[in-house]
Amino acid sequence: MHSEEPEGNQVTPSTGQNLDPHLKRYAARAEGMTASEVRALFAVANRPEVVSLAGGMPNLAALPLDSIAAEVASLIAKEGLVALQYGSAHGLPALREQICDVMSLEGITGHPDDIVVTAGSQMALDLVTRIFIDPGDVVIAEGPSYVGALGTFASYQAQVVHVEMDAAGLVPEALRQALAVAQAQGRRVKFLYTIPNFQNPGGVTLDVIRRAEILEICRQAGVLVVEDNPYGLLGFEGQTYPALRSMDPDNVIYLGSFSKTFASGLRVGWALAPHAVREKLVLAAEAAVLSPPVLSQMIVSRYLSTHDWQGQIKSFQQMYRERRDTLLAGLDQHMPADCTWTKPDGGFFVWMTVPEGIDTKAMQPRAVTARVAYVPGIGFYADGFGSRQMRLSFCFPTLDRIREGVRRLAVVLEQEMELLRTFGPASRRISSGPQTPSPDTA
Ligand SMILES: Cc1ncc(COP(=O)(O)O)c(C=O)c1O
Repeated sequence: MHSEEPEGNQVTPSTGQNLDPHLKRYAARAEGMTASEVRALFAVANRPEVVSLAGGMPNLAALPLDSIAAEVASLIAKEGLVALQYGSAHGLPALREQICDVMSLEGITGHPDDIVVTAGSQMALDLVTRIFIDPGDVVIAEGPSYVGALGTFASYQAQVVHVEMDAAGLVPEALRQALAVAQAQGRRVKFLYTIPNFQNPGGVTLDVIRRAEILEICRQAGVLVVEDNPYGLLGFEGQTYPALRSMDPDNVIYLGSFSKTFASGLRVGWALAPHAVREKLVLAAEAAVLSPPVLSQMIVSRYLSTHDWQGQIKSFQQMYRERRDTLLAGLDQHMPADCTWTKPDGGFFVWMTVPEGIDTKAMQPRAVTARVAYVPGIGFYADGFGSRQMRLSFCFPTLDRIREGVRRLAVVLEQEMELLRTFGPASRRISSGPQTPSPDTA
């Protein structure tokens, strides 16, 4: 049956409005789920002729694939009936014990019972948000923050309040102020979400003295801390920092991941939570996925017990350090004088600020045309900031491509500045808010 009146908000393409016939049916929480506006561009950015400094995918080329393949084959042959079966929502006991060893490298003494294994730390983020957030609750996060976390918070209708960072990470005084303002407004702050080490996207690390101060501020305000630490073992000099969790076990939920230190495609991460919270997380995990993937857990467990995983992490550190050095050297050599950027000592990302008047989102199509891609800064804020910033990833491209990408980006910026001098600033665009993560932008 045809009707003159389109169902729901379905309209013709010429109006430019939403074509989704189910629009009126969605729950309110689905409103916060918006596809990345730059997703279409990423399809182009992934063409081989484009140097992508956008993607946050770990570089797996150094993994010993042959011996991993042999281990996986032997796993299936010997333990296939367990490996291919449902497991418990809590995660495999043997793996939980090994995770304790991994976390001890950053000073954490956790108990295997208090660990919940998840399908990547992204799922742990989802579970934590699910059990703590009612619509309208406030999450405090660094500004900028991880796009995947902002997407999760939006999908549970949290309100994100960003707190400023400087070269030493989250600024304690700014946190104090944000909490005071929220309290004065009668808003309920549930937790601080922080990425203390080699932050995504900021590339900065939280100063050790500030760690204690921030924990104290949160404790006094009755606010939990969610510490997201996928990059903590990727310090370029092999350095580690004391985890927040190691300093205040009762008030910190720690999220860890094997995505950056082993294999992101296996989707194995975890949460270490205070005991009572752990119980809720297991129930939430059961409701979400029944159990995290057993085969993946067994592969990780086998890898940890048969491979020199710490040696592998060292070689990842060296590989990423070389890439960081190449990116920073290129920026020093080619970028216009008014650009500034962070100098990470670990992780995957550099955060660059461009001259006043340049809008990195508006510039993105011109950059892709010039065969270089980055992620515009606004995606990393829930409130429209970040138009003068961009995230540059050095994790994936080869050294030559990093050099070439920076050269191309510098040319685009010079042209943009020339336009600015001639015609004045482009109209400022406001972010449509946090977007769902994709492997391209993670
Ligand atoms: C800060 C941060 N947290 C969490 C994740 C998700 O990691 P996982 O692969 O463990 O889900 C990422 C991935 O890029 C990340 O950068």
